[in-house]
Amino acid sequence: MPPEAPLGSVRLVGAGPGPADLLTVRALRAVETAQALLYDALVDDEVIGLAPPGCVRIQTGKRAGRASMEQAAINRLMLRLARRGLRVVRLKGGDPSVFGRVGEESAFLKAHGVPVEVVPGVTAACAAAAQFDFPLTHRGVARRVVFATARLEAGALAMDWAAGADPETTLAIYMGSTAAGQVSQRLIAAGRAPSTPALVVENAGDPHAGLTTGRLDRLAELTAGSRGGPMLIVVGEVAALASAAGACEGAPAPGWRMSG
Ligand SMILES: C[S@@+](CC[C@H](N)C(=O)[O-])C[C@H]1O[C@@H](n2cnc3c(N)ncnc32)[C@H](O)[C@@H]1O
Repeated sequence: MPPEAPLGSVRLVGAGPGPADLLTVRALRAVETAQALLYDALVDDEVIGLAPPGCVRIQTGKRAGRASMEQAAINRLMLRLARRGLRVVRLKGGDPSVFGRVGEESAFLKAHGVPVEVVPGVTAACAAAAQFDFPLTHRGVARRVVFATARLEAGALAMDWAAGADPETTLAIYMGSTAAGQVSQRLIAAGRAPSTPALVVENAGDPHAGLTTGRLDRLAELTAGSRGGPMLIVVGEVAALASAAGACEGAPAPGWRMSG
């Protein structure tokens, strides 16, 4: 029997919102030295292209019409590759700890004795704020940020939105484009003022990112002009400070728009 390969390792790496220059240096080094790369749908081709020749590249998210892999299959695949002794990089859009299933993957790998390291990334909310010149917190105006998901379960919002009623809370809402109308109703029902500033950023980090601004009671309209990219919704007083004019790196191209 051939001797068993020493156990490899898995790095759960945040790729940031898209452009390679928004990778952390640690993430860049991880990708450049990967022997196997498993990447999600939102990871940019430019970043995937940084992996060395000979690196096994496996797409796990929905891309180009292909279905996404089941989480259990991804877990098994990471384990198999690590057991072959490979340095595996599991590359996720944004930050792996923000709606990135990092907890599940890390627990699975550790339970099987595989060394795991998490490498943080720039989450969509931070990229959107930087690009369109608004803060997520602001002294005296916004003292709390809530990262929430508005993913629908059986057609309905699963979350209790009471935490978003506080006028000093900034809500950064992920996966919310199809449920924007419901989010708006639930937040207003919870006590948030209908006139609260709100915005939507599509493809944050990309030079062609889109910004649409308005108010909470018109949230569904703000997401209606989607061009098919990932969308982040921000609700809170800080949204009134957003501006495409102040953006420098990743400055908005003709695609951006603002509405009142
Ligand atoms: C499964 S979550 C992953 C979030 C990711 N881990 C992060 O930290 O940004 C996917 C959702 O994040 C948001 N998102 C991710 N990348 C984005 C981008 N570049 N621009 C706007 N929203 C983005 C969208 O709401 C999208 O539906």
